[in-house]
Amino acid sequence: MKKKKIVSGMRTTGKLHLGHYMGVLTNWIELQDDYDCYFFAADWHALTTKYDKTENLKSDTREVVTDWLASGLDPKKSTIYVQSMLPQTAELHIYLSMITPQNWVERDPTLKDMTKIIRGDGSGAKTDTVSYGLLGYPVLMSADILTFNADIVPVGNDQLAHLEITRDIARRFNNIYKTDFLKEPLPKLTQVPLLYGIDGQKMGKSFHNDIKISDTEEETTKKIMKCITDRSRVRKTDKGHPDQCEVAFKYYQIFANEEETKCCEQECSLGIRGCAECKKNLAAIINNKFAPIREKRNQLSKNPEIVDEIIQEGSKKARIEAQKVIDKIREIINIY
Ligand code: TRP
Repeated sequence: MKKKKIVSGMRTTGKLHLGHYMGVLTNWIELQDDYDCYFFAADWHALTTKYDKTENLKSDTREVVTDWLASGLDPKKSTIYVQSMLPQTAELHIYLSMITPQNWVERDPTLKDMTKIIRGDGSGAKTDTVSYGLLGYPVLMSADILTFNADIVPVGNDQLAHLEITRDIARRFNNIYKTDFLKEPLPKLTQVPLLYGIDGQKMGKSFHNDIKISDTEEETTKKIMKCITDRSRVRKTDKGHPDQCEVAFKYYQIFANEEETKCCEQECSLGIRGCAECKKNLAAIINNKFAPIREKRNQLSKNPEIVDEIIQEGSKKARIEAQKVIDKIREIINIY
């Protein structure tokens, strides 16, 4: 049986953090075996808010893909490409923009967040001016998905509204052109543990509370030692409350195994294990988990041509697949 098609992208905001890893990458990696996957670095989407700060755009794109590969995305299984290397997306974006009612994009609830000075992940627009491109954010996203006529889109909660517009646009296209060619892609919501930053707020680059996949062991340990624990616990011998521990114990639940977590819970509650010791232990657990990923990442950063080659190859493959859809769309619309 033909595998179902999956498309998903990530804005190119630079080096990824453990929130991206736990929230998105582990899911993508699992999907690779069962679906025909297309994963792309959304540099055009980054441009919707950072059009005037492009000095790191190219390197940010490479860093993102390097993090993906180190984490286990496999170019033999998935097609990995860069959005701007697929002109087919831009072409489809034009056609979709013609049929998308203005009020559909104006209603997009995430538009309001995007125009706030800074968004949690550092992607906020600099001013509250909404450019034509930013307004078209969900239309471009629809083009990303529909250029492959994808079946499924793995997204977080925050992207559901965009995907709803994609489904509406696909339906409208089919109605207008009297066809059933475009599929209405389904979201695949992934139950992910919300990873807080070391200060207990949402993990985000611009909050300076994130731990990067690419951080060294020393950097990671230093950050973990700063993370918030049980505020009511003053002395090491005080009995701790793991359920009130704001960050450290939550990280145990996500990164440590059951035994380590239980042991931490007991020793903390009895006042045997102090917070400093607890965090040192936690840092070792996290460093251990990410050691092979970081090792692979170091190798890739030393050989950026490997990453570039994977991007070139993936983009080539993506263009061939996307062109098939575009040819059909041109035929349906009746374009010369
Ligand atoms: N908008 C998505 C985000 O901010 C990234 C994205 C762009 C995307 N195009 C997409 C995700 C297509 C899924 C499918 O995370």
